Formats: sequence, C-alpha cells, structure tokens
Amino acid sequence: MRTPALLLLVLVAFQRATATDTDYPLGPEKVTNLHFFMHDTLSGKDPSAVLVARAAGANYTPRPDNLFPFSSVYVFNDVLTEGRERSSRVVGNAHGTYIVTAKNEKTILMAVDYQLADYQNSSFAVFTRNPVGVDGRELTVVGGHGAFRMARGFAILPSHYLNTENGDAILEYNVTLFHH
Ligand SMILES: *[C@@H]1O[C@H](CO)[C@@H](O)[C@H](O)[C@H]1NC(C)=O
Ligand SMILES: *[C@@H]1O[C@H](CO)[C@@H](O)[C@H](O)[C@H]1NC(C)=O
Repeated sequence: MRTPALLLLVLVAFQRATATDTDYPLGPEKVTNLHFFMHDTLSGKDPSAVLVARAAGANYTPRPDNLFPFSSVYVFNDVLTEGRERSSRVVGNAHGTYIVTAKNEKTILMAVDYQLADYQNSSFAVFTRNPVGVDGRELTVVGGHGAFRMARGFAILPSHYLNTENGDAILEYNVTLFHH
C-alpha cells in the first residue's frame, strides 16, 4: 500500500520540477529603447554616492590625477532625469555599487538596478565592466523585472560630464532592452 503513495509523491515532485512555460506566460519579445541622464554626486552635504571602503596605504590615496584609486567601493542612490539638467523631469533612480577594479586604467565594475517611474517602477539590472571616461562605452544589461521581465541588452553611454575636482558626474544613457 505504501508504494502508490510514494509514486504519487514522486509524480507531484516531477510535475513541479518540469513546470512548462504556460506557468509563466512571457508573450512575444519586445524591444524598448530608454534614454536618460544619471546624476552621480559625490560633493556637498547630501551626496548621492558615498565611499564605503578602500584599501589602506599610499597607493590607494586619492590624488588629483587619480580621484578613484584601485579598491575604492562606492554605494550610490542616483537620480535619473529626462534631460541633462538636474532640474529636468525625474524619470527614475538607480541603486547600486561601483568598485574600482582596475589597477592601471580607469575602469570600474558596476552592479546597478535602474528603476523607471514611467514603467510602473519596473527595473533592469546592469552588471558590467565600465571603462569610465570613454564616450560610447557599452554596459551589459543582465536582467529585469515587471515590464522588463527577462531583459537583456546593452546601454551605450554617448556622453558624460565629469567634474575633475570633486568627481561629480552626469552620464547620458541610451539603453536597448530585449524583454518580454
Ligand atoms: C515608484 O517608486 C517611487 C519611489 O522610488 C514611489 O514614490 C512611487 O510611488 C512608486 N510608484 C509606483 C507606481 O509604485
Ligand atoms: C540611442 O539609440 C537609438 C537606437 O539604437 C538610436 O537611434 C539613437 O540615435 C541613440 N541616441 C544617442 C544619443 O546615441
């Protein structure tokens, strides 16, 4: 009498493990292009990006020619606007961290979630190497949720403004998402 019960259990487990795509209807793939500006502000009394860790030692001390030494870890909550000016319409925000992972070049590693108000606060996620300062650089989009479910794609950064004294930056984003 015990065997059928066990068999049933195995069958139920098997059914769960082999859920078909009808359980998660994705619909056809869509392509969405997003354009916005990200304001990364280190200066002032209420910065949007803060340094949380850095290796000790002279090699890791910021200098005018190297504001972001190797090993620096920043956490940020940046505003996204429609236009270049901070006073233009706010379209969302970015939460993330960037780490200076390059020893001999100006490159960071970014893990960021970008939330867009016009898409019911859906977000897409970027995990990428970022050679800062190179206009036209391309970042990797690795996922998304809500309106951007299953997103993948890329973000081109056509232009940027950097205040070389305090590190404040305004970054133009042109994002292409393939999603469902
Ligand atoms: C979207 O998120 C912002 C805060 O990030 C919140 O103020 C707003 O109410 C949210 N909108 C929706 C539709 O959830
Ligand atoms: C942004 O991307 C779109 C689609 O690839 C392109 O048509 C447009 O010219 C780009 N805009 C900028 C400012 O790079």
